[in-house]
Amino acid sequence: MIDRTRVGVLISGRGSNLQALIDACRSCDYPATIACVVSNVAGVEGLGRAERAGITTHTVPHTAYNSRKAFDDAIDQVLRASNATLVCLAGFMRVLSDSFVLKWHGRLVNIHPSLLPGFKGLNVHRRVIEAGARISGCSVHFVVPELDSGPIIAQAAVPVWPGDTPDSLASRTLAAEHKLYPLALRLLAEGRVALDGQSVHFRDVGEAGGELFSPPL
Ligand code: GRF
Repeated sequence: MIDRTRVGVLISGRGSNLQALIDACRSCDYPATIACVVSNVAGVEGLGRAERAGITTHTVPHTAYNSRKAFDDAIDQVLRASNATLVCLAGFMRVLSDSFVLKWHGRLVNIHPSLLPGFKGLNVHRRVIEAGARISGCSVHFVVPELDSGPIIAQAAVPVWPGDTPDSLASRTLAAEHKLYPLALRLLAEGRVALDGQSVHFRDVGEAGGELFSPPL
């Protein structure tokens, strides 16, 4: 039996990246297991995905708390009660307080649908198309207090085709996200990627770090 890293996944909606992590965790040689799924929105599709997989879910509505800190403290308590040691943001649409981020420093990661540091924030695909970029992609990064700015763990490139709409680019990018996030979580759980101060330390990540980008799509 391998000793699996217990992961808390925070979501706000559809949960397709959560599903990719759930599917990865089904492999007996995968080094992580999902300890709990927390949503700040009740009744979302991602919660159903977790329930069907037999994972404990919690709804922590941000509207029920009168400060960001109180909301973040509630999430922190749920994560700790489930013995999670790593947290994956997967379409979680709330900005976490600096104190939460610092508490989970090096153990809190996010997936963003662009090749960071380009196109941080929302409406990524529309802005990528408007900018005329020919290559887009997705990034898994450590979370730091500044939005979408933490040290990058892994990226996958995705072409932007002439005639792409934000929706067509989003769905091509999402397919890459579903491969990239499980790959990045594996590296984290195996201790092959770690945050060292403000930079990422890599160990045994394949020849020339080849596991860290463009996994076969
Ligand atoms: C993904 O595109 C992810 O990169 C971004 O939010 C979206 C979430 O989609 N942070 P899903 O809920 O995982 O389907």
